[in-house]
Amino acid sequence: MLKGRHLVEPGDFSVEEMETLFSLAEHIEQDETYLRESCRGKVLATLFFEPSTRTRLSFEAAMLRLGGSCLGFAEPGSSSAAKGESLADTIRTAACYADAVVMRNPKEGAALLASRYSSVPVINAGDGGHHHPTQTLTDLLTIRQLKKAAGVAMAGDSPFLGLTVGCCGDLKFGRTVHSLIKALSRCPNVKFILISPEELKVPEYITGGILKKKGAAFLETSRLEKVIGDLDVLYMTRVQRERFFNEEDYIRLKDSYILTAEKMRLARKDLIVLHPLPRVNEIAVEVDADPRAAYFKQVKYGMYVRMALLASILGAV
Ligand code: NCD
Repeated sequence: MLKGRHLVEPGDFSVEEMETLFSLAEHIEQDETYLRESCRGKVLATLFFEPSTRTRLSFEAAMLRLGGSCLGFAEPGSSSAAKGESLADTIRTAACYADAVVMRNPKEGAALLASRYSSVPVINAGDGGHHHPTQTLTDLLTIRQLKKAAGVAMAGDSPFLGLTVGCCGDLKFGRTVHSLIKALSRCPNVKFILISPEELKVPEYITGGILKKKGAAFLETSRLEKVIGDLDVLYMTRVQRERFFNEEDYIRLKDSYILTAEKMRLARKDLIVLHPLPRVNEIAVEVDADPRAAYFKQVKYGMYVRMALLASILGAV
């Protein structure tokens, strides 16, 4: 169904196509041998022009678990980009060696450009402060599985129906938030509470261009304590130091929100706390022991959903 497709931003896959990936990932979660060897002989290129731990390793783990192989770089300084090669030429080259390319790049729009030059599917693993669609697949799968386990979603209903989702932190530069909002705004009755300092609010192309256009309910606030009790999902994010123009602003804003055990006492019993990770200071380590903290489960779901994605775009399912 998704064979040969690019994934540049969440809108590239329909709600139904995402649901198919989630069902596949659920199958893998229940039986880790499912789809094993289905990509034998296939090669994945991972081209990371920016730092990464989970995204790159989970793609590589996913490909290896499917029986395929990986090549690539994690350090742009070791590639010909350092000699001045254009992205278009790098991608054309990688597409000669691999059956699919996963790329992370600091420039917004880089993945779209790569998809135009590539003869094999391109998966966007983050383009600057723009989008990160496979993190969104991870986030949605985590919510889906945890809500299903809690028995909240009725058979046949979308597990996202009627959720109140709080996104907190750097909503300006945080690409994971942009992609999550774009994907969830397609689900019925999802309400967004956008919690950030004034300077780090969600860009207008998201509030005006997506939320208002879709008629999605949203509220912007700077006070986490005031709204935490209303949330089904709290999505914490790191202040994106690398996208700031000056260090002073970063230092002033970096500790705007710190989720502590004390603040968790104001939250509902069935809250799900997510974070794409890496965490810096925005979730106190004491919160990790709270059963509502789901960010390490989220890491595992990231691998399952990337297995489902790779098997699908490589035509193995
Ligand atoms: C995120 C990213 O790279 O955008 N990390 C990730 O992929 N899990 C979030 C971040 O770096 O803050």
